[in-house]
Amino acid sequence: MVNIAIFASGSGSNFERIVRAKMSGEADGYIIKLLIVDKEDAFAVERAKMLGVKYRVVNPKDFISKKEFELNIIEILKQEIVDYIVLAGYMRIISSTLLNEYTHKIINIHPAYLPEFPGKDGIKDAFDAKVKQTGITIHFVDNGIDTGEIIYQERLKIDSNWNLNDLRKEIHNIEHKIYPIVLTRLFKKGENR
Ligand code: GRF
Repeated sequence: MVNIAIFASGSGSNFERIVRAKMSGEADGYIIKLLIVDKEDAFAVERAKMLGVKYRVVNPKDFISKKEFELNIIEILKQEIVDYIVLAGYMRIISSTLLNEYTHKIINIHPAYLPEFPGKDGIKDAFDAKVKQTGITIHFVDNGIDTGEIIYQERLKIDSNWNLNDLRKEIHNIEHKIYPIVLTRLFKKGENR
């Protein structure tokens, strides 16, 4: 079993899915130690309260530098004996301070088929580009933007009748279905090594 911390900045629907999948037994191999958010008003906090998951708000504005901010996060992670960080809509670039402490142990989900459409809004970028297909990617985080080693990818055909919201819904459905499963596979595989 690996101890994970989930990082989010917004809605937290993936966070909730990862928690619920574990509760129902659909997912396994990980223990959710806590949620870390960088914004007081992130809806993910409401979900954590509802689900009974411990959470911490770590606001970068309370620190003199990104380094100090991430050192504080590391302190919390050490207290909680966190092995892996799972990003779920965490809108900040992870710097070398945290990356060096958790090398190859930070996982992200990106709402496009990388290397297509990296960056902040992969769903809108794919929609605006009028491509016929997009997808989702789960990958390790390295020091680039959405460039780390790919763990899992899934394609999604874009229906020409979909508007941007339809596409967002379809992408989220895939994310919710697959993120807990991919984490389970990854962590269970680690156990067998
Ligand atoms: C997801 O689409 C994820 O791929 C991206 O941010 C979004 C987070 O959504 N990195 P939510 O907060 O989990 O609802």
